[in-house]
This record gives sequence, C-alpha cells and structure tokens, in this order.
Amino acid sequence: MKFFVDTADLGDIRDMAAAGMVDGVTTNPSLIAKSGRPFLAAIADICALVDGPVSAEVAATDHETMLAEGRRLAAIAPNVAVKVPLTVDGLRTCRVLADEGVTVNVTLCFSPQQALLAARAGAGFISPFIGRLDDLGQDGIGLVRDICEIYRAHDSISTHVLAASIRGPLHIVEAARAGAHAATVPPQILRALYRHPLTDAGLETFLTDWRQTGQSILDVSEAAD
Ligand code: G3P
Repeated sequence: MKFFVDTADLGDIRDMAAAGMVDGVTTNPSLIAKSGRPFLAAIADICALVDGPVSAEVAATDHETMLAEGRRLAAIAPNVAVKVPLTVDGLRTCRVLADEGVTVNVTLCFSPQQALLAARAGAGFISPFIGRLDDLGQDGIGLVRDICEIYRAHDSISTHVLAASIRGPLHIVEAARAGAHAATVPPQILRALYRHPLTDAGLETFLTDWRQTGQSILDVSEAAD
C-alpha cells in the first residue's frame, strides 16, 4: 500500500519525503487555508518536492467553472491530480478531465454507490473519508472494505482506493487489510507509525551489549576469521 501525506505544509512534506515516507500528497481547501500560502504556488512547490501524485482540489461547484479550474490546476505540473467533490457536477468534470488524460481524485466519498459512480466517471482515485464516518458512529473502514470488494469484482474498474480522513495507525492497518491501494495520512500520524517502545528498548539493549564487545564493524584491523 502506498503512503500519501495529507498536508500542504512544505516543511512536513520535506521531512517525510527525506524519510522515504511520501508516495504522494493530498491537499484540500482547508489544508491550503491552514498553510496560509497562495494556492497555485503551494501546489507548484509541492509538485517540485515529490514525484508522486499531488492532489489539488477545485473550489467551484458548477461543472463549467470546475472544468476551467481543473484544467488550470492540471497545467501546474505533470504530477497534479485534480480533486473534485463527489457531486453530479464533480462527476461530469471528472469524466471530461479523465478523457483529456488528467488524473482525477474524486473526494468526499461516503458510500459504495458514490464510489461506483466515481469509477464509472473515470476517476484515477476515490477518497473514502474514514474518520468523518467514524465521528458519526458509522463504519468508516467498512466503507473502504465495501469499495475494495466491489472494485475487485470488476476488471473494468481501474480506480485506485485512497483511504482518507485517517485518525490513527489502526485506520491504516485496516485500510491495508481491506486492500486499499493507498492511504493519505496526516504528518503526525505518519511519524507515529514506526515508533514502538519495545523497539527502542530492544535497540538500547543490543547497543549496550555490542559496546561491551569492544569491536568495530568498520575497523580495518578486524579481519574476518
Ligand atoms: O484531505 C482529505 C481528507 O484526508 C481530509 O479528512 O477528516 O482529516 O479533514 P479530514
């Protein structure tokens, strides 16, 4: 499963890319507003930092304006994925942009039937929002499972499931178990993924015992026996 980072913060993206943890980036209007940066420049900077898909979301709600915005966003860099909401106009725009060779990430997906319509419209990615369903006491991971099962049943569907609205490591594990192609993860959750107290404790013990051998792996005088 691929790991995307869900942020528009360049510092976080740079850090996670240096750690080899970024297969792509997703932004949305709220994340762009939080960054405080001009939208088009922020997307251009992010696209220069990572090779993978960078999702940039349209702001309009009518098809004609969404299409104009989507074309402008797609022109920023070859790795831009244009994000459109799962509405009738968003699906119309997805179909036209996909036919023009633009990768489209259809976002704000909350039902399997919405995901079916997005695949039919040629979406490159579908973004089911796990956390926001969980916040209502509904089954966010169940939605990811349903979409993966339905998509796997149809060879004609090439849309990738991008698990979104991630609230913690278990969402990532369950999304991977369900067969999601990728998860888009807030930076602070990505950083927590590889941490475990037993790893830290075990490494400290290894290092203490190694130091007592007085040996050095790189010491040229230590010829192999
Ligand atoms: O950016 C798409 C999605 O991951 C945002 O979800 O619930 O964290 O705002 P949320």
